[in-house]
Amino acid sequence: MDFYGKDFLRILDFSENELKYMLATAREFKKMKRAGQSHKVFPDKNIAILFEKTSTRTRCSFEVAGYDLGMGVTYLDPTGSQMGHKESIADTARVLARLYDGIEYRGFDQKVVDDLAKYADVPVWNGLTDECHPTQALGDFMTIEEHFGNLKGLTLAFVGDTRNNVANSLMAMSAKMGMNFIACGPTELRTSDEIVAKCKPIAEKNGCTITVTNDIAELESRADVIYTDVWLSLGEPQEKWGERIELLKAYQVNKAMMEKAKETAIFLHCLPSFHDLNTSIARDVNKVFGIEEMEVTDEVFNSEQSLVFEQAENRMHTIKAVMFLTLYERREK
Ligand code: CP
Ligand code: NVA
Repeated sequence: MDFYGKDFLRILDFSENELKYMLATAREFKKMKRAGQSHKVFPDKNIAILFEKTSTRTRCSFEVAGYDLGMGVTYLDPTGSQMGHKESIADTARVLARLYDGIEYRGFDQKVVDDLAKYADVPVWNGLTDECHPTQALGDFMTIEEHFGNLKGLTLAFVGDTRNNVANSLMAMSAKMGMNFIACGPTELRTSDEIVAKCKPIAEKNGCTITVTNDIAELESRADVIYTDVWLSLGEPQEKWGERIELLKAYQVNKAMMEKAKETAIFLHCLPSFHDLNTSIARDVNKVFGIEEMEVTDEVFNSEQSLVFEQAENRMHTIKAVMFLTLYERREK
């Protein structure tokens, strides 16, 4: 399997075996990191990481993974480059590709990361767009596999804003890994028919199902994983809070919902999360709408079923695997 020079733009661009190989490589890197074994294999390489939206996990994962692989890392923040306003995507891509060995991009339109990849002749890695969040799905499936020992045949229920970027990548990854996927949320925020149409044939081939529903009873004794995400994603207008709370409050992940899932079920969240009033946004929303916990209750977030911090750690190991595989040139003997 050769990933050298490839971009990592969306889960559906990769075969089942390629994705499994990425997960296996991440497991090896995690073992090495835990054992304190140095793996600075790219001391002469440098990468640029571009963020047009804010980030903690994705930025830090790319930085730490880059340093662990021995690389230099340049971070460009939302105001730190000419890209988009003073210089076209095509020109930015061609400049960065002259200076760097790989480019990460987080932003809005998927077309921007696709164009970067088109014009840059070095690997481009998608660190989240409005459409998808593929490195998140890899980290999540590493976490699920670590916990259950396997993936095939399990059921993942994404509850909430089912048309968002994280849900889209989880659906694609579930179909590829032979896991049943339930998108459970209000009809108004229903997952796009287009992405379902792309994933269904893959799911059928791999012996699993995709269910799109607004009925939380569908989780009854079925879900091995309950996954949720924020009700308002990066880049969406703050004025939408009221409407979202109305639509999504019935889909809050709380103890009663966890009890509907299998007894052995785990809780996952990509983070950041509004599960208490310890953030300024949660306090602002609380002042206007009176709600103290949003997509997940503090009780579930901090319960033994919650593996959210394992997930956060696994972002780094999986991102390292993606960078390693796409930058490592295998030489024929
Ligand atoms: N889960 C995730 O992508 O987190 P950040 O927005 O902090 O990168
Ligand atoms: N759906 C969220 C994911 C954050 C990691 C967002 O786009 O803000």
